[in-house]
Amino acid sequence: MPNTLRSVSIVGTGSYLPKKVLTNADLVRMVDTTDEWITSRTGIRERRIAATDECTSDLGAEAVRRALENADVPSSKVDLILCATITPDMHFPCTAALIQHKIGAPHIACFDIEAACSGFIYGIEIGRQFIMSRTCNTVVVVAAEKLSSIVDWKDRNTCVLFGDGAGAAVLQHSSASHGIMASSLGGDGAHGELLCVPGGGARLPASVATVNSGQHYLKMMGKEIYKHAMKSMQQAVTEALQRAGMKIDDITCIIPHQANMRIIEGLAERLEVPMERFYVNLHRYGNMSAASAAVALDESAREGRFKRGDIILTVAFGAGLTWGANVVKW
Ligand code: UT7
Repeated sequence: MPNTLRSVSIVGTGSYLPKKVLTNADLVRMVDTTDEWITSRTGIRERRIAATDECTSDLGAEAVRRALENADVPSSKVDLILCATITPDMHFPCTAALIQHKIGAPHIACFDIEAACSGFIYGIEIGRQFIMSRTCNTVVVVAAEKLSSIVDWKDRNTCVLFGDGAGAAVLQHSSASHGIMASSLGGDGAHGELLCVPGGGARLPASVATVNSGQHYLKMMGKEIYKHAMKSMQQAVTEALQRAGMKIDDITCIIPHQANMRIIEGLAERLEVPMERFYVNLHRYGNMSAASAAVALDESAREGRFKRGDIILTVAFGAGLTWGANVVKW
């Protein structure tokens, strides 16, 4: 077989959201907040919360089943599972392996991507590289998060922002006329402390003291993160478009990370794109980290926000710091 690069398409998507809905009114009964503060500062109205016995791998496996069904690809055809998550079921083994077992795809390669909110965008590009190089024919990229398991439900600064969910995409070789055209990925570890879970890792192993001082909860310097978000996402979009040889006006639908409505509006302003071209679902789900862009991609595709041949763009930003964008001809 000639060793030429192949083009790669997203041939199916799926998502799964847990049933339990936690509204802003519910949060008002839990912490010192108001519906007005949450909606005006973030745009979020409700989020989903996984059941106690529902793990990240359960959410992810269901999203993968739905994506495979949408692509009409049996699990026996999958060569590689990539799982983007910051809330793995356990430190190890990787959640991708647990999903592999749950969907019944034995012996195939699997690993996790820890790029926080940008994880799905990273995953799409990593999966594309495996297929382009002919190492794999079918790659599943799944982004699954049970953020409710690391949120401090007494901290109003963070607990109103996050939710649980999962989204997945099936990648396969495509005809040269459509597929993933280009990506831009970036990171800046100098700001790692702005958004992290400080305890439970090698630096601060779990102890009675770390648990008592809440070091296993997600900590975020919201204002600082906010400043970096806009700049990094604009940079990712510009670079990805340049690599794809496209202009922002060529894009039918922009699927951004769903952290904050004000960030999305700010990005729209910087890119000089009307808000109608952005897909937004954060009012229903809040910030689901890596799963946000994955669920938004699935929902926007199923709602018919773009059709075959349209150019779409995903973009995200998050802990690490990490950021990225994919340009895709659907
Ligand atoms: O997904 C990864 C990337 N993450 C992000 O992109 C998140 C980026 N950051 C943000 O979206 C925003 O910074 C937040 C939504 C997190 C916060 O909005 P903000 O406008 O930056 O608010 P703030 O943190 O400056 O807080 C303003 C005030 C503070 O009170 P004082 O100090 O001014 O008296 C907070 O204590 O709002 C207070 N506050 C709240 N009040 C009612 C913070 N959380 C709440 C709350 N309800 N839930």
